[in-house]
Amino acid sequence: MDSLDSTIAFVRVVSEGATPGERETLRACLSRSLPEIPPRYFYDDVGSALFERITGLEVYYQTRTEILILERYAKEILASSDPTQVVELGSGAGRKIRLLLEAWGSAAAGGTCGMLDINELFLRQSLERLGADHPTIQFRGIVGDFVEDVDRIGAPGRRLVVFFGGTIGNLYPHERRAFLRKLAAGMDHTDTMLVGVDLVKHPARLEAAYDDPDGVTAAFNRNMLTVLNRRFDADFDPSGFEHRALYDAENAWIEMRLVAGRACRVNVRSIGMYLDFAQGEELRTEISCKFTRASLASSAAEVGLVIDGWFTDPEALFALALLRKQAS
Ligand code: AVJ
Repeated sequence: MDSLDSTIAFVRVVSEGATPGERETLRACLSRSLPEIPPRYFYDDVGSALFERITGLEVYYQTRTEILILERYAKEILASSDPTQVVELGSGAGRKIRLLLEAWGSAAAGGTCGMLDINELFLRQSLERLGADHPTIQFRGIVGDFVEDVDRIGAPGRRLVVFFGGTIGNLYPHERRAFLRKLAAGMDHTDTMLVGVDLVKHPARLEAAYDDPDGVTAAFNRNMLTVLNRRFDADFDPSGFEHRALYDAENAWIEMRLVAGRACRVNVRSIGMYLDFAQGEELRTEISCKFTRASLASSAAEVGLVIDGWFTDPEALFALALLRKQAS
């Protein structure tokens, strides 16, 4: 553990090179009939910066809508949650946690704020900025994966765990269940969880949000191949793949794919695996599940959580749900 200053503690649990576990996971993902790359590989420094650009795009309504909801309801959420600790999963540039900390106000004095993100640069920057602006709050940064490292977020006890952005949607239903189960197991009856979810809407609107006219999302998608080249010693040619976004109404998720523009063979050296693509063959790089209040309530109920607060925008594009343990 190294420390940025006395009020900020910092832990790194992921490394730059790929671990044996990561290699095994990638091998399994690439071996599926529709090969996949885990979405965590979007977020190197270039990818995290591209995602920041996505959040400002006209078609990408999610971020500004979630901020609007937070601006409107942060006080109410905090009054209901009444935490002594706030922990954010997947904090990115840290813009939303800032709104929450501001609304926490004087009640925040002596409180702690933990932030977990896969990108060390973005995490350090947001910790430094937040630490400077909130000297009475104790900060703790964890470079890690929100699924694997969720048990490092500290002890229960009036803890508010926030997971903004709709990132819970990146998990397949069975992964979401396991993730929520792990989180719920670490919660007591004074803990709450605030989760941002993108809501089911017209497929055209969803597909537009993942395929912007300036090609920022396409660049974000292709960048993942560069990350694989570096981390797994692969030889993808990113320019040989086209970006594609499609909505799967049955599963209520959007998916992003990369489509081979021409036949190619890719060598992923660190896992000793060749991938042969015919022209038009695809890789899946992300699913992003869309929810209704009812579908989130049923996901929560599976692990003994209930929706205690539901905050949305006038168009019902996006929602923040406050979850608690079901009274037993
Ligand atoms: C950061 C995972 C919430 O799923 O909307 C944005 C990522 N992918 N554009 C999402 C993303 C393409 C984003 N999350």
